Order: sequence, then structure tokens, then C-alpha cells
Amino acid sequence: MKAVVYEKKAYPDKLVYCDVDRPVPGENEVLVRVHSVSLNAADYRSMKMGLIPKRKIFGADISGRVEAVGVNIREFNPGDEVAGDLAGAGFGGLAEYVTAPEAFILHKPKQVSYEEAAAIPMAGVTALQALRDKAAVQREQKVLIIGSAGGVGTYAVQLAKYFGCEVTGVCSTKNAQQTLSLGADHVIDYTKERFLETDYRYDIILGINGNYPLHACRRVLTSHGVYVMIGGSLSQIFKSILFGWLLSLGSRKMWFLSAKPNKTDLEFLMGLLEKGIIRPVIDRQYPLERTAEAMNYLMEGHSSGKVIINIVK
Ligand SMILES: NC(=O)c1ccc[n+]([C@@H]2O[C@H](COP(=O)([O-])OP(=O)(O)OC[C@H]3O[C@@H](n4cnc5c(N)ncnc54)[C@H](OP(=O)(O)O)[C@@H]3O)[C@@H](O)[C@H]2O)c1
Repeated sequence: MKAVVYEKKAYPDKLVYCDVDRPVPGENEVLVRVHSVSLNAADYRSMKMGLIPKRKIFGADISGRVEAVGVNIREFNPGDEVAGDLAGAGFGGLAEYVTAPEAFILHKPKQVSYEEAAAIPMAGVTALQALRDKAAVQREQKVLIIGSAGGVGTYAVQLAKYFGCEVTGVCSTKNAQQTLSLGADHVIDYTKERFLETDYRYDIILGINGNYPLHACRRVLTSHGVYVMIGGSLSQIFKSILFGWLLSLGSRKMWFLSAKPNKTDLEFLMGLLEKGIIRPVIDRQYPLERTAEAMNYLMEGHSSGKVIINIVK
């Protein structure tokens, strides 16, 4: 089968489009003919940290059709349309076929396209777990989303509105209209405004992208406000893990989120998508053979929504 394999020594790009053996499903696995994959920061961050999947194939968020099932599989049959996040199951999505344990995939609703289904898992579940689990979001709270225009941010804006909040998104000029079109009540252009130097206070701040000092974010929280660090620069993430507890000693809390793939959460998001309550924002789509170019684009850090690789043409 065709796949994109990570070769550390390959030049100029390390993601090489080539032929590899098709995987064989184990007794508890499903073999999926992959239709679409969405790229995540988890792909390139794992590469940078030397966390390479066993088969050297990245790609976690997949959608596709079941090709074959292991003898112990009860929930899926060949021909079923599925989607899932395989980050906890060895990645492998950037290929024509991938095997996955049953627990990592779910049935894709018919009305949801393969591209849309692949655009949801990691980014959508991260936004959901940040708001619902870490921030314990409540109706009418004021939510600031720093990095509202990327994969996670576009879901965070829509989910915060779904939870009944007043939402302010932070992004650059080119993405301001998009953040408003997703339902944000206010948008701040970080290239023009020092948005942390304000008298305004937020109940929840999601730190999704950019590199803004933790103490400055803490200052604009309400007295019982919660800051959730999701992403941004690696140094920023390490600081939040190291010092978050110290900054959380009072009534304001500074948490770091470590999102976990969760089938029930993904089913919940697919349900919202089916009902038209949320929609994936797809920035660019590429064929499998142009994955290296797509990954380079994502790594620039200014995509407007998700970047998709389509394998079935
Ligand atoms: N903690 C977890 O469990 C978890 C899970 C998933 C992802 N993450 C992390 O979350 C982060 C975001 O992921 P993603 O998929 O959303 O990435 P992404 O799609 O690459 O995000 C790109 C977006 O970031 C925005 N951005 C860049 N610089 C900014 C700045 N200074 N201020 C505000 N926004 C800025 C860009 O908006 P403009 O173009 O408008 O600048 C762009 O739309 C990554 O660091 C990822 O590693 C963490």
C-alpha cells in the first residue's frame, strides 16, 4: 500500500511517500481503508521529540471504511464508515490502510463527510475537555480564547457558545472574520491590541496558541477564574506545568490540559455536528503524496482551521 513514512535522515523533508506492507488486523483490531486524515501539532511535536510510532507512520485523526475485522470484533463489520483518533494506538493514519483497536474508532454518521469526520477528533475533543472538564464551564461565563483560529480554537469558540458563554476570540487580522462567523461575540486582533493590558476580566481563559506570560493571563481572570493552558510554545507549556500549581494557590486556578482520546466525547461532538450545532473549519486539503508540504504549512502555525490529507480520491 501507499503510505507516508517518517525517515529521520530523508532530505529535504522527513515524510517520504512510498510503498509499505499493508497491516494485518489482530484478533481485537479493525482494518480501515483510510479516506481522510487531519494533521495535528501532535504529529510534528512527536517527530521533534523523537516519539516515533512503531511503523513510522504518523496521522492520528482518521476517517474511512472498515475493510476487515479481527475474530473478536463485534461492533464493526466490513463496509462500515468509521472515524477515530489513533494517537493512543500507534498513529498510522497517513496510509491507505491502518489497523485500530475497536475502542479507538466509532461509526461515522452518514450525513457527516469523511473530510469533516477526520477534522474533528483530537482538536474537537481537546476543546471539549478543556471547557467542560478543566474549566467546568457554566452558562453566561465570559470566556477568552487565545488562539481562536486554529484547529482547537475553532472548536473552542463554537463549544463555548454552545455552553451559553460570552466568547472573545484572539487571532490575527486575517482570521478575525472567521472567528466571528463561528459565533464569537468579540474578536481581538493580537497584532493590533495588547489584550492582556485591560480592566476587563474573564471567568475562563483558554491558552491555545501564542506565547503570553502566565502572570499576565492570571491578572485578567475574575477572582474565581480558571486559566487552561492547552498549547503554544513548548517553553510556555513547560512553564505552565512547572509553575501552574504555584499560581493556583489562591482562588484563581491555572491548569494544564492533557487531553485524552475519548470515544464518548467524540460521539458527543459527532452528534453536535450532525445537528448543525458545530462545524469543522477546513483550511486546506492535500493528497497523500503532498503530506510533507501540508505538514510544513501546519508547522508555520497560522492555519485557519484544520489541514486535511485525502487518501481515497
Ligand atoms: N494539551 C493538549 O492536550 C493538546 C491537545 C491538542 C493540541 N494541543 C496544542 O494546542 C496548540 C494548538 O493546536 P491547534 O491544532 O489549534 O494548532 P494550529 O491549528 O496549528 O493553530 C494555528 C492557529 O494558531 C494561531 N496563532 C498563532 N500565533 C498566535 C498568537 N500569537 N496569538 C493567538 N493565536 C495565534 C493562528 O492564528 P493566526 O493565524 O490568526 O495567528 C492559527 O490559526 C498546539 O500547541 C498543540 O500542540 C494541546
